[in-house]
Amino acid sequence: MVMIPRRDVEFGLSPESVPRDWCSRDPFDTTFLNALSLLFPEGERFFVESVKQHKNQVTDPELVRAITGFIGQEAMHGKEHRAFNELMIAHGYAEAPRIDRKLKSFLKLVRKVLPPKSQLAVTCALEHFTAMLAEALLRDDRMRREMHESVRPLWLWHALEESEHKAVAFDVYTAVGGGYARRVSIMLLTTIVFFAAQAIAHARLMATRKILWKPWRWGGGVMRLWIYPGFFTRLLPAYLSYFRPGFHPDDRDTRSLLASWRERLFGDSGSLNDRVRVIAQQ
Ligand SMILES: [Fe+2]
Ligand SMILES: [Fe+2]
Repeated sequence: MVMIPRRDVEFGLSPESVPRDWCSRDPFDTTFLNALSLLFPEGERFFVESVKQHKNQVTDPELVRAITGFIGQEAMHGKEHRAFNELMIAHGYAEAPRIDRKLKSFLKLVRKVLPPKSQLAVTCALEHFTAMLAEALLRDDRMRREMHESVRPLWLWHALEESEHKAVAFDVYTAVGGGYARRVSIMLLTTIVFFAAQAIAHARLMATRKILWKPWRWGGGVMRLWIYPGFFTRLLPAYLSYFRPGFHPDDRDTRSLLASWRERLFGDSGSLNDRVRVIAQQ
């Protein structure tokens, strides 16, 4: 298992340093990622709780250490994305806190309705999503260049850590006897709910920018995501691999990719060294 350190970072973003259309200088692309960021803090809190609920059933000391690293990393992501989401309010998205609250009450319902093991399966499914997106961002130079330099470090750091801890929830699920049928049926359900939640949040933000009812303002963005270059369509094989009975997140070997990004961001002359206060090794 790869090392999963908790890096205590602080990006200290300010509304003045981040352009309102910070991704591709385009309101569609920017509101898409803003919507994703709005889902992170509550979503990641859910991930942490679903793993924590099973921690006492895990006996492998290496996996226990990995859980601690996972919890530390997700807590930091929540904190920094919350700060980023605050910045959205300053950029005129007054409804951002409402979207966060709606998600919070929805996840409260999910916790009530689903048994703990299925909640953990939801986390495994969403961790597969974040791992796919993270790997795409770390591999695709063009995608990274679309992000304004003020915000790029936040997304790169998050992507690196999502990739580092991509197997933790899955390994806990397996260790506590989680089975195939539950894993794949929850993946199907989660896919629908995730895309619906993302679309609702995105539509709200697009409405604020007054582009929701102007398809000529976002048709190109939809094309880029699904047709050419098809950022999402290209992820389809990786998505489908989750349905193989013997699937494991480490089947996709990202070790050398991670080693090079760890060096670039946090190595001796890492670009993010001035934003890190502590690195807690597990
Ligand atoms: Fe995260
Ligand atoms: Fe994660």
